[in-house]
Amino acid sequence: MAVYALWNNKGGVGKSYLTFQIASEYALTHPEQKVLVIDLCPQANSSIMLLGGMLNGESVLNRLSENTNKTTISGYIDDRVRSPYSSTRTGSGYLVRLSEYNPNMPDNLYLVPGDESLEMLSSRISKAAQPGPDDAWRIVHLWIRDLINDVKASWGQSDTTVFIDCNPSFTTYTELAIAASDRLIIPFTADGSSKRAVRSVLSLVYGFVRLKGQQQSEFFLNSRLYSLAMPGIYFYIGNRLTQGEGASAVAFKAVVNGIGEEIWQAWRVATNNFHIHPTGSGAPANQSAFKKMFQYEILDANSASVVSSALGIPISTLKPGTKAVLRKEVRVNASQLEKQRPNIQELVNMIE
Ligand SMILES: Nc1ncnc2c1ncn2[C@@H]1O[C@H](COP(=O)(O)OP(=O)(O)O)[C@@H](O)[C@H]1O
Ligand SMILES: [Mg+2]
Repeated sequence: MAVYALWNNKGGVGKSYLTFQIASEYALTHPEQKVLVIDLCPQANSSIMLLGGMLNGESVLNRLSENTNKTTISGYIDDRVRSPYSSTRTGSGYLVRLSEYNPNMPDNLYLVPGDESLEMLSSRISKAAQPGPDDAWRIVHLWIRDLINDVKASWGQSDTTVFIDCNPSFTTYTELAIAASDRLIIPFTADGSSKRAVRSVLSLVYGFVRLKGQQQSEFFLNSRLYSLAMPGIYFYIGNRLTQGEGASAVAFKAVVNGIGEEIWQAWRVATNNFHIHPTGSGAPANQSAFKKMFQYEILDANSASVVSSALGIPISTLKPGTKAVLRKEVRVNASQLEKQRPNIQELVNMIE
């Protein structure tokens, strides 16, 4: 059980979609646990999917964020802006039990919803991290850790599995998400800029310097200064893989291999930036064992993903047939689902 952040320094790679799929599948296959999603993205895409999809999810989210007492991440951040250096222990007050809003969600899955006002709070978080006690930076960067501890305390549990959906840009609340997590899942897609984004992750979080004279990020330097542990890389996921032998499938492979090479080099420089799994495994002895441990591929789910995210029904419980999405009929083929389901299930099986 651990805290997983899904992050890449790039939008549109599947962070929110995979947070939705992975968290709901994980909760479904671990009914004995309470599972938490924290949405630290102002776009709140994963919250909308989890809360019931494009129509229902969005209106529920509006209600949750309209209240003067918001039940969203911004409500908690507001508390902490008022009390930056002393934990408010209010985190569990921002929890939403998803099955109360979305009948397709397992009973044991909870969410601290995202909120568009997070963007406006960003500068206040930065301000709090500067003045104050000597270790203000560290204390502020532990706000989300504190939130998780509040939730665990309210559940009477010492451990729980948490998935954090992140904003693509490396803003202060993304820093808080990274600082709160033990393990990092990096999704990417097969476009040219994905490699640059993965390089950015390696430099922003782990201090890799590629070019002469390049500066290390303030986040990396401060994390060293204040002994804040960084999450171990758990998976890099080539998402929306195109199957077959066509040009796009070949291009995809080339990108996956290029990024794989980049991450393999990062491993060779500093193995301690990675989280070896499954528990009890030895360190991978060569590049193919490394790939087997850290690389994963998710197929493009085509119309199944559209229906799944629009209606807030996870791939693993989505039934084949024709569904109404915004008054349009969308067909989900059984054969399509049969490919997607094991894909997500196998990935979740490897999440400890
Ligand atoms: N494996 C997949 N198959 C099909 N569509 C996907 C898949 N992963 C993501 N998508 C779609 O791609 C778009 C971008 O994904 P999203 O999760 O919002 O990216 P991010 O959170 O990284 O910005 C969304 O419309 C999402 O539904
Ligand atoms: Mg997103």
